[in-house]
Amino acid sequence: MINSSGKMFTPIRIGSVEMRNRVALAPMSLESITPFENSYLDNRCKEYLVQRAMGGVGLMIVSCWRVDEDIEPMHHFHCNILTRGALYSIVELNEILHSFGAKVFYQLTAGFGRVGSPHPPGGGQPVAPSALPAFWDPKVTCRELSTGEIDTLVEKFGFWAGELKKAGVDGVELHAHEGYLFDQFSCAVFNKRTDKYGGDLEGRLTFAREILHAIKASAGDNFPVVYRYGLKHYMKGYFKGAVPGEDFKEFGRTLEEGLEMAKILERDGFDALHVDAGCYDSWYWPHPPNYMQHGCMAELAAQVKKEVNIPVIAVGRLDDPEVALEVIDKDKADIVAVGRGFLADAHWANKVRYGEVDQIRPCLGCHDACTGRLFNGKPMCCAVNPTVGRELDYQIHKAPEPKKIMIIGGGPAGMEAARVGAMRGHDVTLFETREKLGGHLVAGSVPEFKKDIRKLMSWYEIQLRQLGVTVLTSTPAGLETIERQRPDEILFCTGSVPLVPSIEGIDNPKTAHCIDVLNGEVTLGKNVVVIGGGLVGCEIALWAAGGGRKITIVERLEALMSSGPTVSKENRQMTIDLLALNNIEIRLLSTVSRVTDDQLYLMDSGFNQSRMEYDNLVVAAGMKKDDRLFLEAEKLFKNVRRIGDCLEVRNIQGAIWDGYEVARRL
Ligand SMILES: Cc1cc2nc3c(=O)[nH]c(=O)nc-3n(C[C@H](O)[C@H](O)[C@H](O)COP(=O)(O)O)c2cc1C
Ligand code: SF4
Repeated sequence: MINSSGKMFTPIRIGSVEMRNRVALAPMSLESITPFENSYLDNRCKEYLVQRAMGGVGLMIVSCWRVDEDIEPMHHFHCNILTRGALYSIVELNEILHSFGAKVFYQLTAGFGRVGSPHPPGGGQPVAPSALPAFWDPKVTCRELSTGEIDTLVEKFGFWAGELKKAGVDGVELHAHEGYLFDQFSCAVFNKRTDKYGGDLEGRLTFAREILHAIKASAGDNFPVVYRYGLKHYMKGYFKGAVPGEDFKEFGRTLEEGLEMAKILERDGFDALHVDAGCYDSWYWPHPPNYMQHGCMAELAAQVKKEVNIPVIAVGRLDDPEVALEVIDKDKADIVAVGRGFLADAHWANKVRYGEVDQIRPCLGCHDACTGRLFNGKPMCCAVNPTVGRELDYQIHKAPEPKKIMIIGGGPAGMEAARVGAMRGHDVTLFETREKLGGHLVAGSVPEFKKDIRKLMSWYEIQLRQLGVTVLTSTPAGLETIERQRPDEILFCTGSVPLVPSIEGIDNPKTAHCIDVLNGEVTLGKNVVVIGGGLVGCEIALWAAGGGRKITIVERLEALMSSGPTVSKENRQMTIDLLALNNIEIRLLSTVSRVTDDQLYLMDSGFNQSRMEYDNLVVAAGMKKDDRLFLEAEKLFKNVRRIGDCLEVRNIQGAIWDGYEVARRL
């Protein structure tokens, strides 16, 4: 039980609107649940939000909406557009969300500016506050928005805010963070204008101020408007972010300017400030990966709170209940916004409120299925919760007839299948050879920056116990066990085993697989070489770094993390920046060609040979499926299936999703 004052679950006001508690659902692109070609929030979007309102959210911030589609043409899946059709569905959705006691703010964007598509649909030039190189293709120069276009945007913000108010929306938030158009207007690096929209900070905030006034004029003075912005940009230059703790000169917004902004925004009449950090060039700040601490931006919110009297919303890995409660209890912020915590567990707020924190399915900070899918044009979801965005279809119903299900292998696929199978009312037995459930999660959760995986393992153990799954650890299961058990369904979740490249001398005693290293079976010396620059190789290098140890990653491809499951933009960018900060040497397009007792022989793509001394050679060259038992069993028994790595080597998401998909149909 966490010791807390309980203040998080007391009401608070933003302007005239009272929230039942101090928990907001951080805005997360609805357009990636269903592209709004027909400008209508469909049942997928509705149910996704309704589940979170049922889960105890006080304020739903529904993102992300444009008021105009002509000035900055966009592909429909990049952003929702406010239309009459959209309003109809917004009315209905508000009614439901209000029935569950949540307040509803819509997040409005002025556009993407320099970070939008360099080649907008229909041709033409991208737009920005000033003539800037486009982020995604710096050869393309954005055109400066005309004052006429700015006037149109201001007018449309006013109009649509009025319409949203009539539709029952309680307030709006301006999407002025993470480097989009509003943010570009407010920052001197991106705004070089010489008219009233540029110049000093007051001038650069004119665009937001005029929009605020237009909204208030149309929707009324008591219609709350929140400004969401990054207090500091953490930019070392264009396309260069700065990681926490790095000594650097701020190229973007400084902390001092961010605090000055807070005072101006309050004076101008904004009703609350929603504070994070970073921008596109330092994307891992607004989208903090697992390498960031829980509550990584809470101290920034706390600094703003000292400067203003309007409510301050903190955000950023606040899904750890202890950290979130402390933010409120210690008055670092008035409201906590939680994003991915609500993807991983729709009922996060109620579970915190009722002291059921061990029932919360944790977010891993991986971005594999949320932004990772969104940026690849796939519907947003969650690695640990495959029901996100399909809550209606993916409910688990009791099976018409209980079956006896035997699951072999207690990694993520096996644990998820056991959980879902038991929820369906089946009699499930889970066999695990090792002493502990988890499979590769056990080694994978050793680094401190992977500690949320430990929480996930505990969560599964609790769920399986509560659901009455028979868990047999230290119990290998073979063909005779199946014969004896006579199950109706058999699921093989036997996972994967390390791939060891065929290199002369690789069986040297100084060679170890990364799993053994993580499990503490090997003591690392001062000079470590890692074969394989996939995510696992990079992370083991980061974990082993420090204490004067020299680490080299040898990767045969031309870039790190370029094979295996896609690593999201923010996690990849931060991994690379952390490797650089830790002075980890990267040898791309290179292979280890021979291993001797004291030397490694390397070869690059030009067939140039070099040698290096080493203390340990750590192999992180991938895994191969372990399906030996499955192949035997399927010859002898009916209803035998395999899931997880044993089917195809992937990541945690692949394993959990297989477990869910298969078990919910048994
Ligand atoms: C899938 C996804 C989509 C997001 N879309 C938006 C958005 O449309 N508008 C916005 O302001 N922030 C967006 N964010 C950022 C979140 O609001 C939030 O600031 C971020 O995820 C950090 O909070 P968390 O650690 O609680 O997830 C998005 C985040 C995710 C994961
Ligand atoms: S995909 Fe990963 S980061 Fe995103 S919500 Fe799920 S667990 Fe969290």
